[in-house]
Amino acid sequence: MASLAICPGSFDPITVGHLDIIRRTAKMFDRVIVLVLMNSKKSGGMFTPSERVDFIKRSTSHIPNVEVEFHDGLLAEYAVKKGAVAIVKGLRVLSDYEDEFKQALTNKKLASDIETIFMVTDTEYMFLSSSLVKEVGSFGGDISDFVPSAIKQDIIDRIRELRER
Ligand code: PNS
Repeated sequence: MASLAICPGSFDPITVGHLDIIRRTAKMFDRVIVLVLMNSKKSGGMFTPSERVDFIKRSTSHIPNVEVEFHDGLLAEYAVKKGAVAIVKGLRVLSDYEDEFKQALTNKKLASDIETIFMVTDTEYMFLSSSLVKEVGSFGGDISDFVPSAIKQDIIDRIRELRER
């Protein structure tokens, strides 16, 4: 049977660091679903779930075994329903670890057959996060090195819209 991995996240918006993890995961599994989920610790957000899905689709269109979905519920529940064998998450700095470890243990409790795999980020992207992209962009900084080129203008436009409100 074809192996399926899930790359979950809030992706508000996708960064080149996320894209690197997705690309490397796609080399290890037959199929990858990049899954946009809600993170209860992050309220609001700059982009709607459907905008986030659209951004990821446009950024991953060159990787044939990648699909993109949104799920308004539990990651473990979705992974079981789809028959996934693994949840793959990128690990950057040590401070990521505590929360990621708790999430992995929770998901293991909810779906004992699904393994969480932590993929170490490329050193080039260790500092990078969606929040940092929004912060740099809000102050007019250059985000070209931080986000896929296909979606850069959408982010700049949204920041401008929010500022003009
Ligand atoms: O990119 P993020 O915000 O670090 O991703 C966290 C995310 C969205 C994967 C996590 O909050 C999540 O799995 N949300 C869905 C709800 C869920 O399954 N919660 C239980 C695991 S903590």
